[in-house]
Amino acid sequence: MRYFGKKVRLRAIERADLPRYVEWFSDPAVSENLSIQLPMSLVHEERWFEENLKLPVEQQALAIDAKAGRGKWEHIGGAGFHAVDKRNRLAECGISIGNKKYWNRGYGTDALLTLLRYGFETLNLNSIQLRVLEFNQRAMHVYEKIGFVAEGVQREVHFYKGRYWNMHFYSILRREWEARYGATKE
Ligand SMILES: CC(C)(COP(=O)(O)OP(=O)(O)OC[C@H]1O[C@@H](n2cnc3c(N)ncnc32)[C@H](O)[C@@H]1OP(=O)(O)O)[C@@H](O)C(=O)NCCC(=O)NCCS
Repeated sequence: MRYFGKKVRLRAIERADLPRYVEWFSDPAVSENLSIQLPMSLVHEERWFEENLKLPVEQQALAIDAKAGRGKWEHIGGAGFHAVDKRNRLAECGISIGNKKYWNRGYGTDALLTLLRYGFETLNLNSIQLRVLEFNQRAMHVYEKIGFVAEGVQREVHFYKGRYWNMHFYSILRREWEARYGATKE
């Protein structure tokens, strides 16, 4: 199954995608926002890929492809759910547009909206949460624009560039999402 937005689609990750993740996550401009600070190799990524396949399908990471015209797609990043709590119907989400050429062009917003639709309409979640470092102003802008509500701040939990940074927590509830975007009636 693939999940389509206006500009992107979400799909399962293939082994052939892995070198791109290594490239993206080795770039400090991308990885500093993801709390990744240590060197990453293709072998690390291949191990991660094998572990990812052992997770329940709803927790497996997804690739983000951008529409590149005439039925063509370009892999530009990743997204997905983790920390899924089935009884309480909640999960944490994450997103990364690794290809910087695609930043600030609406792809992150569309990918996150597509992920939310998948989470609420297919996985039947009630609350989708996320965390973001205090210096990631672009991501916070996107989350607030989409309708995520700030829940609180964990103080000085991330050490980077010689100092501690705060982590901001956000969530969006299914009823808030439906009021804004409407449940799909198909
Ligand atoms: C954060 C991220 C997913 C956003 O995706 P994107 O495709 O770049 O975002 P969009 O183009 O959809 O939207 C960007 C918005 O942020 C705004 N913006 C850009 N830089 C900004 C800044 N420094 N401060 C505040 N807002 C900013 C843009 O103007 C735009 O707002 P608008 O739609 O109201 O005009 C993407 O940049 C990314 O993956 N970054 C690296 C990894 C990361 O940070 N992941 C999130 C970890 S919590």
